Amino acid sequence: MIGRERAEALDAADPLRGFRARFVHGDPGRIYVDGNSLGRLPKATVEALAGRVDEWGSRLVGGWHDWIDLPARVGDLLAETVLGARPGEVVVSDSTTVNLYKLASAALDARPGRRTILTDRDNFPTDRYVLEGLCAARGLELRRLECDPVSGPAAADVARACCDGEVALISLSHVAYRSGALADMEAITTAAHDAGALILWDLSHSAGSVPVELAESGADFAVGCTYKYLSAGPGAPSFLFVRSELLEELRSPIWGWFGQRDQFAMGPVYDPEPGVAKFLAGTPPVLGLTAVEVGARLVAEAGIGAIRAKGVALTGLAVELHDSRLAPLGFELGTPRDPARRGSHVSLCHPEAWRICRALIERANVVPDFRGPDSVRFGFPPLYTRFLDVWEAFDRLSRLVERGEHLQVSAAPARIT
Ligand SMILES: Cc1ncc(COP(=O)(O)O)c(C=O)c1O
Repeated sequence: MIGRERAEALDAADPLRGFRARFVHGDPGRIYVDGNSLGRLPKATVEALAGRVDEWGSRLVGGWHDWIDLPARVGDLLAETVLGARPGEVVVSDSTTVNLYKLASAALDARPGRRTILTDRDNFPTDRYVLEGLCAARGLELRRLECDPVSGPAAADVARACCDGEVALISLSHVAYRSGALADMEAITTAAHDAGALILWDLSHSAGSVPVELAESGADFAVGCTYKYLSAGPGAPSFLFVRSELLEELRSPIWGWFGQRDQFAMGPVYDPEPGVAKFLAGTPPVLGLTAVEVGARLVAEAGIGAIRAKGVALTGLAVELHDSRLAPLGFELGTPRDPARRGSHVSLCHPEAWRICRALIERANVVPDFRGPDSVRFGFPPLYTRFLDVWEAFDRLSRLVERGEHLQVSAAPARIT
């Protein structure tokens, strides 16, 4: 039996323990394990946003002088501190969905003779839908990799699925949104390039939780959310990355004025920026960018190495607690056991997952989330999650299921599958 004291001892020895107090915590009794859906609010963000709002009030349109290069400035900061990319390869703007569309579209234009996009069946829905839409619009085939739902796609799966030479673009998640499986970016990128395809990574669940080495791995494109492990808040803008060597030949599908070379010349025709800024479209979300900057600085200050080490330990404790207390209650681990092959969240599968998730929120003050068809997902952002939170969440979960409390929650609505 793993007691509460073990979790308390791990917290006492945690080199990142001081970071927790730098985030806003509402209800002290609530165990929040959904930071990989929406990260907690950093206290520094409250101040930074108030400052930005003051600037808006006092400087009005004159503020644009300082705000206009935030997409590139914050992009460079993320490149250096979180993404392992080079200066001039990242900008921040728009949503992950929109950025994925822009980059996938540009990639397809760069591989005109090829007829196929490859993704995996378990990739995040918006990624699959955007790719499906592009295929429908261009008369291409969307090939869906069948892979193990827990371990996710491997380089050999990708190589096999591309062997006909038809694949223009491969689009995968670095950390899978449901299982938390961490893909081998370098090996899969090499397999993609060996097949003559370009590769686009979704880093939404890895940016700020695991080391990302875009330059070293040779990745072509990447996108990702900033409101998860980067704690930039609801609707904060997404980042996009393009490998420098590709920039010259690529064209954005959205010819907006923020991608224009001499924007305020208001010229008669579109003449895009040569660099990654060509992928900007309209007016940047200044408040959201301000919050992304704070989140990136927090990750840099803590160090991604220390964040990763704690993420491995937090998920390791969760796996141990699953094995000792939850497996006997009918749960199955939906996340890789090998810590090198998982990110910073853990999914537990159970036929009553939906009711269990509702009961945890409504009756036990634990906030995970449900991911269909049968997973309760627990996110452990290392900057503010205590080992005690992991222990408490799983202790309350096992008691609730032992007592059958979840059975008192009405069954899942029909639309949730
Ligand atoms: C892996 C992944 N990609 C994309 C998205 C969606 O991004 P957005 O709604 O900001 O476009 C999410 C949202 O949770 C996600 O988890």
